[in-house]
Formats: sequence, C-alpha cells, structure tokens
Amino acid sequence: MLTPRLKTFLIAGIALLTALAATECSAAMDPAPADWPDYEYNRAPGEFKRNRYGIIDPSPDVVSLQQLPVDSYGFVDWGKAIRDGIIAPRDSISGKPPRLSPEDSQTFSGDVLIKSKMKFMPDVIFPHTAHTEWLKCSVCHPKIFKKKAGATPITMAGIWNGQFCGRCHDKVAFPTRNCFKCHSVPRQ
Ligand code: HEC
Ligand code: HEC
Ligand code: HEC
Repeated sequence: MLTPRLKTFLIAGIALLTALAATECSAAMDPAPADWPDYEYNRAPGEFKRNRYGIIDPSPDVVSLQQLPVDSYGFVDWGKAIRDGIIAPRDSISGKPPRLSPEDSQTFSGDVLIKSKMKFMPDVIFPHTAHTEWLKCSVCHPKIFKKKAGATPITMAGIWNGQFCGRCHDKVAFPTRNCFKCHSVPRQ
C-alpha cells in the first residue's frame, strides 16, 4: 500500500514531469531560424548544431506542422512542401549520400496512368517523382508493383486492406479518404 506521503511525492513528481514535457513541446513549436533553409546540415547524428560563428545554436531542427501547406482536406501536403522548398529531406540520417544498388540508382520520373475499372471513378495518375523523392525503387518494385503500366491487378478493396497503394497510404502517406488526389484525371 502507498503511504499518503509517498502518494504526495509521486503526484508532485508526475506534475513536474508533465510541466517539463510541456516546455519541451512548446520549444519544438518555435519557428525555424531566420537563415533556414540555407543552413548546412552536415552534422553527425547527435552532434550539436552550430551557427555560422561556430556557437551552439539551440534552435530546433524541426519545422512546426502549422507552417506546412495543407491539401483541401486539411492534411499536410508533403509534395507541395518539397516543391516549395519548405522542407528538404536528407538522403540519409548522416547526410552522406546513400550507397545504392544498380537497380536503385536508376531514375524514372514518368507518371503512370492507371485506368479505372469503374466508369464512375476518374482514372488514377501515379506520379513517380513524388515517390522517388522519399523512396528507393526497390521499396515498390518488384514486390508491390510490377514494373509495367497496367500489369498489377490493383483494386480499391485491396488498398483499403493495406495492399498496393495501401501499404503506405492511410499509414505514413496521405489517407485514402482523399479520393481525388489519386483519382485525379479530369473526366470528360
Ligand atoms: C492512394 C491512391 C488512391 C486513393 C486515395 C483512392 N484510390 Fe480508388 N483506386 C486507386 C487505384 C490505383 C485503383 C485501381 C485502378 C482503378 O480501377 O481505378 C483504384 C480503384 C478504385 C475503384 C475501382 C474499383 C475497384 O474496386 O478497384 C473505385 C470504385 C475506387 N478506387 C474508389 C475510390 C474512392 C471512393 C476513394 C476515396 C474514398 C478512393 N478510391 C481513393 C487508388 C486510390
Ligand atoms: C511508391 C511505389 C513506387 C516506387 C518507389 C517506384 N515505382 Fe515504378 N511504378 C509504380 C507503379 C504503381 C507502377 C505502375 C504499375 C502498374 O500499373 O501495374 C510503376 C511502373 C513503373 C514502370 C513502368 C512504366 C510503364 O509505362 O510501363 C517503370 C519503368 C518504373 N515503374 C520504374 C521505376 C524506377 C526506375 C523507380 C526508382 C527510381 C521506381 N519505378 C520507383 C510504383 C513505384
Ligand atoms: C511505399 C510507400 C507508397 C506506396 C506503395 C504508394 N505511395 Fe503514394 N506516396 C507515398 C509517400 C511517402 C508520399 C508523400 C507524402 C504524402 O503526400 O503524403 C506519397 C504521395 C502520393 C501522391 C501525392 C503526390 C504529390 O505530388 O503530392 C499521390 C497522388 C500518390 N502518392 C499516389 C499513389 C498511388 C496511386 C499509389 C498506388 C498505385 C501509391 N501512391 C503508392 C508513399 C507511397
């Protein structure tokens, strides 16, 4: 059983931790430094960030989500954030270029038109560039998608079950609720 004194002690401890966590959060919401994004991110993981005079720069590396563009559903539009230069994801945690297999060093920026099986739904455009900015070819090829337009039997039920596009969308990429971000071909 907890004695009343121990209880008070525990409650005070929890209150202190909560207060600390709250200050941490508000610090993370600070705006990015004024000279961002020119800042040279060439640090080893865990190394202090320094300003141009070599003095430790305590400002956070993270950008507040509130500063990022959103789509018509209010979800962060990561594609636009990259295109507008608001974020510039590194190729690796260390900042060094990753070593790629010959398969992954290929480039491919074509958009793939995926015709809709059902007339009432607009066709889908799969944009490669928007994906290869984040992912290697081998993340998708050949396990999730065949490397040939129209060769993968993609269904919406499958996507909702976490297959095909649903391996990422609804999980780490924008949710499938946003139908027309994928079914984006204008209809006649
Ligand atoms: C992440 C991309 C993505 C999103 C978001 C998405 N779809 Fe799809 N959907 C596809 C792809 C790819 C196909 C396969 C090609 C086709 O048949 O249109 C598909 C197929 C379909 C089909 C054709 C029949 C079937 O079962 O395959 C329907 C209907 C459909 N989607 C409805 C929807 C609706 C409604 C939403 C929003 C609630 C939605 N989709 C959101 C990618 C998406
Ligand atoms: C996020 C998943 C994803 C990534 C990453 C990806 N692809 Fe694809 N790729 C697709 C999909 C989806 C298709 C269409 C498949 C289908 O319709 O069956 C496709 C089709 C292709 C095609 C066939 C195009 C055509 O017109 O027939 C080629 C070539 C291709 N990808 C090359 C690449 C290369 C090279 C990379 C890396 C630079 C890459 N892909 C990265 C998903 C991806
Ligand atoms: C391996 C993970 C993965 C798979 C599989 C995947 N996506 Fe994505 N997709 C992403 C990520 C990551 C983004 C960027 C973040 C975001 O927009 O939410 C993205 C963004 C997009 C965008 C927005 C592009 C832009 O310019 O903003 C579209 C459209 C899209 N995906 C369609 C599809 C369709 C259609 C499929 C299936 C044929 C698919 N994706 C499969 C990870 C994936």
